[in-house]
Amino acid sequence: MRFGVVTLFPELLDAFLAAGVVGRAVKNSSIEVQLENPRNHTVDGHRTVDDRPFGGGPGMVMKAEPLGRAIQAVKQSMPLAKTIYLSPQGRPLTQAMLRDWSKLPGIILVAGRYEGIDERVIQRHIDEEVSIGDYVLSGGEVAAMVIVDGVSRLLPGVLGHPDSAAEDSFGEDGLLDHPHYTRPEWLDDLEGASDATEHEDTRSVPAVLLSGDHKLIAQWRRDAAIKRTWERRPELLANATISVAERKQIEQLNRAGRDGATEPQQVEKNEQDH
Ligand SMILES: C[S@@+](CC[C@H](N)C(=O)[O-])C[C@H]1O[C@@H](n2cnc3c(N)ncnc32)[C@H](O)[C@@H]1O
Repeated sequence: MRFGVVTLFPELLDAFLAAGVVGRAVKNSSIEVQLENPRNHTVDGHRTVDDRPFGGGPGMVMKAEPLGRAIQAVKQSMPLAKTIYLSPQGRPLTQAMLRDWSKLPGIILVAGRYEGIDERVIQRHIDEEVSIGDYVLSGGEVAAMVIVDGVSRLLPGVLGHPDSAAEDSFGEDGLLDHPHYTRPEWLDDLEGASDATEHEDTRSVPAVLLSGDHKLIAQWRRDAAIKRTWERRPELLANATISVAERKQIEQLNRAGRDGATEPQQVEKNEQDH
C-alpha cells in the first residue's frame, strides 16, 4: 500500500514512520510513504505557501498553486490513489472506512494549516474530506498519521498475529473488545494505592482465563465484549453481528439494568449533562 502525505511539516512524521507497528510496516515494505512539501513547489524567492484571505479576516490560507502542484506530483507517482483532505468539516472517520481503504492501492493525504486551504484545491484535486473528530487541530498532520496508522495495521503481515485486528473494537462484529490481563496472576498493593485492599477484584484475574480451556475462554471473551459494549456504547449493538441467544443475553442485561444494575442509558445521560 502506498501513502502520500502532502504537508508543510514533513518532519512531524519522521518519528511516527520509524517506530512501532507503522515503523515495521515501512521496514518490511508493507507500506511506502511519500512525503511532499508544497514549499518545494513554490516559484517565488520567498517560497510563499500562504496568503491573506480574500474578503479579509484573521489568519492565512494555504495558496492554491504550490499545494496543487505538490498534490499533482504525488498523483503522478500513484495515479490510482484516493486523495483525501483532512478537515474538521469532513466525513467523520470510522473503522469501517479504514477497512475499505485498506483494499485501495494508495491514499494521498493532504494536511492543511492556518485557516485551511484555498477552496479551489478541494474542488480540483480532492476526492473526499475526512475529519478525525468534532474538534479543531492546528494542522492535518496528526489526522494523516491517524489514517496511515489505522490502515497500515489492517494490511496483511503488518500485525504480529493475523487475528489481532479482527478482535479489536469496531471489528467486523461491531463490538468493543473484551478486557485484557497479563502476568502476574495476583497484583500486590501498588505503591501509593491506599485503597487497593478494598478492591479485591482489582488484584486477581478472572479464573477462566487461567483454566487453559480455550472454548470456555473464547465464550468468556465474547460475553465480556457484549457486556462491555452494552455498558459503554449500547447504540453499537443495533448493528452488531450477534446471535439470537446473545440478543437474549442483552435483553437480560437490559432487564437487570432496569432493576438497578449499571444502566447504559446513564452513560448517554451523563454525556448530555456536559
Ligand atoms: C486550524 S485548522 C482549520 C480549520 C478551519 N478553519 C475550519 O474551521 O474548518 C487547520 C488544518 O488542520 C486540519 N484539521 C483540524 N482539525 C481537524 C480535524 N478534526 N480532522 C482532520 N483535520 C483537521 C485541517 O487540515 C485544517 O486545514
